[in-house]
Amino acid sequence: MRGTKRVVQCAAMAALMWMTLCTGIGAQQARAQNQASERDWWKNAVIYEIYPRSFQDTNGDGVGDLNGITERLDYLKELGVDAIWLTPIYPSPQVDFGYDISDYRAIDPQYGTMADFGRLVAEANKRHIRVLMDMVMNHTSDQHPWFIQSRSSRTNPYRNWYVWRNGKGETATSKGQPPNNWESIFGHSAWQWDATTRQYYYHKFYIQQPDLNWYNPRVHQAFKDILSFWLERGVGGFRFDAITTLFEDPSLANERVIRGKDGKPLRNAYGDVVLDNSRTDNLPGVHPVIHEMRETVDKFDSSSYPGTRVMIGETYLSNIAQLNRMYGTPQKPEFELPMDTQVAFINKLDVAAFRAKLTDVETRIGGNTPLLLLDNHDNPRMDVRYGDGVHNTQIERVLSTVLFASRGAALFYYGDEIGMKTTPPARKQDVKDPIGITGWPKEKGRDGERTPMQWNGRPNAGFSKPGVKTWLPIPPTAETVNVTAEMFDATSLLTWYRALIHLKKTNPAFAHGANVMLDAGNDKVLSWMREAPGAARVVVAANFTAQPQAVDLKAAAEGLKAVHLKTLLKSPEEADPITLDKIALGPFGVYIGELD
Ligand code: GLC
Repeated sequence: MRGTKRVVQCAAMAALMWMTLCTGIGAQQARAQNQASERDWWKNAVIYEIYPRSFQDTNGDGVGDLNGITERLDYLKELGVDAIWLTPIYPSPQVDFGYDISDYRAIDPQYGTMADFGRLVAEANKRHIRVLMDMVMNHTSDQHPWFIQSRSSRTNPYRNWYVWRNGKGETATSKGQPPNNWESIFGHSAWQWDATTRQYYYHKFYIQQPDLNWYNPRVHQAFKDILSFWLERGVGGFRFDAITTLFEDPSLANERVIRGKDGKPLRNAYGDVVLDNSRTDNLPGVHPVIHEMRETVDKFDSSSYPGTRVMIGETYLSNIAQLNRMYGTPQKPEFELPMDTQVAFINKLDVAAFRAKLTDVETRIGGNTPLLLLDNHDNPRMDVRYGDGVHNTQIERVLSTVLFASRGAALFYYGDEIGMKTTPPARKQDVKDPIGITGWPKEKGRDGERTPMQWNGRPNAGFSKPGVKTWLPIPPTAETVNVTAEMFDATSLLTWYRALIHLKKTNPAFAHGANVMLDAGNDKVLSWMREAPGAARVVVAANFTAQPQAVDLKAAAEGLKAVHLKTLLKSPEEADPITLDKIALGPFGVYIGELD
């Protein structure tokens, strides 16, 4: 007996040791895996853009605030979000709703305090959600102390922080003409006369947003310090605003006027002639600056949470070669995630165009990670750009499938997940965005895509207390299009978003697999395959038309022998069984299946 007992004891001890060893190894492995995933988190990230004014108001002033974002973190966690990008929350006169910054190291009291910010970051971190800040380096507010100094005299030490030039034909009594024909993106001349020092300053955006002079090294240092300030406060990275417009051609040569077929200059919504932007956009000087910022940000990378601090670029570019350039080189890296606005703003349901742009970003960025998106706070929402008014929900399912079922990081805008509609002001006197005032009625401004988040169908939609006057009106569609209504509806867009994001996060082919286009001649259905070593292949088919379609992906994909598909996700309207040689899709139907 004794002997048996000892054997049992020994066995028990051995088992215990084995378990300790195993859990030890397991823990080590898990740690190593975690470290790798913290470093690579951004490669398959789901990033959610928040327009803080419009997300959640907690203090009853009709404007969203930081505490409101903190309150909604559980919703975001449940949605599957890895990071939130906040449009600017720094002190600002709010001419461009925060993109005119008067202090880069504080929080605008409208949105809260530094303590609220700290709490937001801490609560977000508990849920493994990184907070990304917007970094506006092209310009400041005209109320920023740097500009107040700069405009005070021609000899002020800050004079050279901005772009000051003499006018043409100026006399003692007249300001003459602006230095050249350059225009503001927000309408009319990009030059503003300043009577105190009798020179013009340059502003690519509003008059109240003077451009910084990036030929001045002190400007570089100032921003490196600002980045460090926020990184030390735990942010997960930055979205770099208007990055392509940092530099202007110092020769001040005029830009070329674009002419129509009739030889007459083209005109934009503000009535200005259209210029080619060749002297004020995407000048080569921008690349060393991005690299310099990357060096600063990389110093804060760690192998544990928050891992890599990520740099996102607002990169409106005209072709894939320019986008590729924004990643930099292995020796001189630039952005981890420059935005691919080429896919986002195709603005029509053109299968061939989507296929071509998705192929570009799969094959022509040298193994870097694409950052896809469909929407943001500067463009009408998807309903206007892609909807047909009848099948909008189905169409948004198609588009979100492109976003989340393709390789790379995916960025979406608050309210996309419930199908919020663009709701522009009906009258000029209601417009808040100054470009809507300058451009009315052709350009109604960006208020329509910035309306308050629709949380429920009650008055003020759960964004603000009932009875409060919200900064922009709650769209009438909030009664039916809202989080509460969609949360438990199996056919809602929100349910679709959650399922897609879940797949992106959990299916190995989705998480890491290459995108391989299938059925390349089809101009009605976009089909592709996700393929990763060791993972079951996944096929995706999305009908871009209002007519039923059927595709044969067995014939389309050479080497695909299996016919059986395990359905991972499909539009609620699609019927099973579906086989690889006959994927039948209803109007704007989507099918996602795994090959057995
Ligand atoms: C970016 C922002 C936009 C802002 C502009 C000027 O394009 O997204 O909202 O008005 O820069 O800062």
